[in-house]
Amino acid sequence: METATVRQAYTSVAQLYISLFGSSEQVHPDDLAFIERHLTGRPGPVLDLGCGPGHLTAHLRALGVDVAGIDLVPEFLAHARASHPNVEFQLGSFERLDVADGSIDGVLAWYSLIHLPPRELDGVLKEFRRVLAPAGRLVLGAFTADEVGAFDHKVATAYRWPLDALSERLTHAGFREVERLPRPDDEQHRPHAALAAVAG
Ligand SMILES: C[S@@+](CC[C@H](N)C(=O)[O-])C[C@H]1O[C@@H](n2cnc3c(N)ncnc32)[C@H](O)[C@@H]1O
Repeated sequence: METATVRQAYTSVAQLYISLFGSSEQVHPDDLAFIERHLTGRPGPVLDLGCGPGHLTAHLRALGVDVAGIDLVPEFLAHARASHPNVEFQLGSFERLDVADGSIDGVLAWYSLIHLPPRELDGVLKEFRRVLAPAGRLVLGAFTADEVGAFDHKVATAYRWPLDALSERLTHAGFREVERLPRPDDEQHRPHAALAAVAG
């Protein structure tokens, strides 16, 4: 899906999204612990790519992480900057990062890769690998299923992946999976998972 289409889709629901999801208190404690386990105490900077309202960027900053958030949607960045004035937020796309090779120590892509058509995932993971230093950490959140496929996400078409297939794409891009946290569906959520990988 075109980035312009994703930007437009999130722009039209930005305030609702912020009210429903824009706080780390609304993130499952197991997910928060997963993110913290892999992205705090890093020796170098961390990027929250597709940071949305910026609550996870701010959460990591409050834990002492040198972190910046990047997103496509100006409304999210305006909210993020106003709510967390001590945190850096930049407008941009994670498809082409204005960041030197090997200069980043951690990347969080929390449900931000979900709108990428499967054929575009490898290119984005390659870009993440380019900016990460060896042993840098990538953490992502994703919707899962038995087969790769599109589904009718409330904001814009999104894609779900078998965790093993996602892990293979990470390996293909130069990462090695180090932890996964799969969660089956419940009454409120589709099956989803967190995945952490190390840049090789
Ligand atoms: C489901 S939201 C997740 C936002 C946030 N990470 C969170 O946990 O609430 C997906 C986010 O990814 C962002 N996004 C999608 N494609 C992007 C791209 N190419 N570059 C930067 N951000 C992107 C969207 O603007 C949106 O904020």
